[in-house]
Amino acid sequence: MCKSLYLLVAVVGLSFGGVIALAQEVAQTPPMGWNSWNYFAARVDDAGVRAAADQMIATGMKDAGYIYVNIDDTWQGKRDESGVLHANEKFPDMKALADYVHSKGLKLGIYSGPGAQTCAKYEGSLGHEEQDAKMYAEWGIDYLKYDLCSFRQTMDQQAPNDRPAQMKMMHDAYDKMGKALKATGRPIVYSFCQYGWDAVWEWAPSLGGNLWRTTGDIRPAWDSVYSILSEQEGLESYAGPGHWNDPDMLEVGNGRLNIRENRSHFSMWAMLAAPLLAGNDLPNMKPEIKEILTSKDVIAIDQDKLGKQGRRVYSEGEVDVWERDLAGGAKAIAVLNAGSDRYSTHPFHLSLEKLGLHGAQKGRDLWAKTDITLTDGMPIEIASHDILLVRIEKPK
Ligand code: GLA
Repeated sequence: MCKSLYLLVAVVGLSFGGVIALAQEVAQTPPMGWNSWNYFAARVDDAGVRAAADQMIATGMKDAGYIYVNIDDTWQGKRDESGVLHANEKFPDMKALADYVHSKGLKLGIYSGPGAQTCAKYEGSLGHEEQDAKMYAEWGIDYLKYDLCSFRQTMDQQAPNDRPAQMKMMHDAYDKMGKALKATGRPIVYSFCQYGWDAVWEWAPSLGGNLWRTTGDIRPAWDSVYSILSEQEGLESYAGPGHWNDPDMLEVGNGRLNIRENRSHFSMWAMLAAPLLAGNDLPNMKPEIKEILTSKDVIAIDQDKLGKQGRRVYSEGEVDVWERDLAGGAKAIAVLNAGSDRYSTHPFHLSLEKLGLHGAQKGRDLWAKTDITLTDGMPIEIASHDILLVRIEKPK
């Protein structure tokens, strides 16, 4: 009797533990990979995704931790009479593409949304959630970005001028796909994309969300990167292993960002424990961009096991000082010159006191790759839109 009770407890305990283990399996650190949208947009195709996968190996990005190869919008074709969605002519065989990506030791991601149409007006998952989730699992998909898009119109039509009812519809829609993904039994990272509506960080984790966009779309320009960065303040308590704030995919190497801006963008996404999804043209990546994207020390900040998102401690003039607590009591400090020229903010004197640090701090300058000692009130020269990123192993 006693023995069978013990057995029952053990079995229940094991399966409960198993469920937890399965639910926590993905995104224990912020997902890293590449996504087609920021550079290729509607030009993405099978060959381009294979080339991206190849380049992730050739450039050392895979070794640096980038694993997901994510197809964004515009892969979808039409549904057949049974409601099965087929990829369009740009993707002749999605299962074969998944096999190819998997054969490289990488994982494949895909994109859909709860509406009838996606943002680029391709077929969405409305009314076909279970069917689509099952198909993704059959193809071997490992990651789904689920984008609100036209579901906003559905919300407007079905609950005009009734915001609470609209928000409930939105929650239910994300819940539905979350359950459908779970029912497949395949570990699939679930990425919410609804631009931060209704304080998504408060409810996404309970619906199985592993990451959620916190803002509108990023653009490859400093004003966009900096304004998204500023919008992350106050969200740090919502991030942790398995569930992350997503300030949108990286624009490193894209558009008008200069080398300092690329470096600052990447550093600050690492400080934010943000998903690192490169969005550039990998086959034509410049060496200096590769150097940023594969910086092991900076990636280690992003992927730190503690999973604690950094916070802005103080600003002075146009210089922002951020800190992030790291595993083992270490700390990362970022000093960012957001000003449009060096002189508007200089000389900048770092306050260790405001950072809660006492006396000289020995650390590592992660971009210069040199040792550095931070002292209270020390003058720091930082060019416009550049950053000093320091890791202190034993802060005092
Ligand atoms: C929205 C998303 C983007 C991208 C496009 C695709 O704008 O926020 O990240 O997925 O849709 O149409």
